[in-house]
Amino acid sequence: MTVNQKLLIRYPGGKRRLLVFLQDFLPNLSDIEGRYIEPFVGSAAVFFYLQPKRAILSDVNPELIDLYRAIKYAPRKVWATYCSFGSTKSDYHHIRDEYEPKTLIQRAARTLYLNRTCFKGMWRHNRDGCFNVGYGGQERRWVITEEDLVFCATVLRGVSLKCADFQPIIDQTQKGDFIFLDPPYRPGHKECSNSHYVWHQFRYNDYERLADSVQYAKSRGVRWAMTISSHEDILRLLKGNHVLRIPRGTGKMPGILTSDSGEVLVTSYPVEGGMRL
Ligand SMILES: C[S@@+](CC[C@H](N)C(=O)[O-])C[C@H]1O[C@@H](n2cnc3c(N)ncnc32)[C@H](O)[C@@H]1O
Repeated sequence: MTVNQKLLIRYPGGKRRLLVFLQDFLPNLSDIEGRYIEPFVGSAAVFFYLQPKRAILSDVNPELIDLYRAIKYAPRKVWATYCSFGSTKSDYHHIRDEYEPKTLIQRAARTLYLNRTCFKGMWRHNRDGCFNVGYGGQERRWVITEEDLVFCATVLRGVSLKCADFQPIIDQTQKGDFIFLDPPYRPGHKECSNSHYVWHQFRYNDYERLADSVQYAKSRGVRWAMTISSHEDILRLLKGNHVLRIPRGTGKMPGILTSDSGEVLVTSYPVEGGMRL
C-alpha cells in the first residue's frame, strides 16, 4: 500500500496524484465492515492503494472492465500478447484501426497497448465508437512489467468486476459497505469540445441521480466519499454531508500538492477540517 504505486493504465482524471491527500480521509481497511465499492473505477488508483479483499469495481467503459477481467484471470497471457505488438507508429495505427481482437485476452492486450502508447493516455472515440487518439510514442510502454500484471491479478482475486451504470451498483450496497466515488467532473469548455470520456456525457441529471443514490445509501448505513467539482449546483444536491477542498497535485511531481484545484471531497461522515453542507 503506497501512494506512489505504479498503475497499469494511464487515465484522464486518475486519482493517483491525490492519494497523498485522500489517504487521511478514507477509512482504514479494518474499519470497513462490509465491501469496498468503486462505481467509477477508471484506473482504480484508490482500489490499488487500499487493496481490499472484498470489493466491487465497476465502470460504464466496457474496454476497461474487460481489461481488468482478462488480467484477473490470465495476466501472463495478456502480457505475452501485449509484447507481440510492434513498436512503430505504423504498428500503432495498425493495432488501433485494423487489428480485430477475437478473444478477451487479445482485446485486453490491445486496450493496454493503445493506452500506453497513445497520446497522453487519452481515452477518446469517434461517433462510430472507434478509438481515435493519435500516437504518443513507446516510452511509457515498458514502464509496466509482467510482474505488475501478475500483482494486479493477485489484488483483483476476490473482486467482482461489473460494466454498468453507477446507479444499480450503489443501490445494491448494504450497511457496513464503503463506496469511493469519482464521477466525471462537470465539463468546462475544453472538455465539452474535446471530450475525454466518450461513453456518456455526464449531465446534470446524472448528478441528480447520483446524489439521490448516495443519499439513500447513507440512510441504509453505507459510508461513502466522493471527489467532485466544487460547483454550487452540484454541492446543493449533497446537503447534509461534509465537504473539504482538495489541493491540486502537480503534473511533474506526483504527490506534491500546490494550490486550490476547484475539486472537493464530499463525505457522508465527518472528517477533520470538513464543513457541513
Ligand atoms: C474521473 S474518472 C475515474 C478515475 C478513477 N478514480 C481513477 O483514479 O482513475 C470517471 C469514470 O467514470 C466513468 N463513467 C462515466 N459515466 C459513468 C456512468 N454513468 N456510470 C459509471 N461509470 C461512468 C468513466 O468511464 C470514467 O472511467
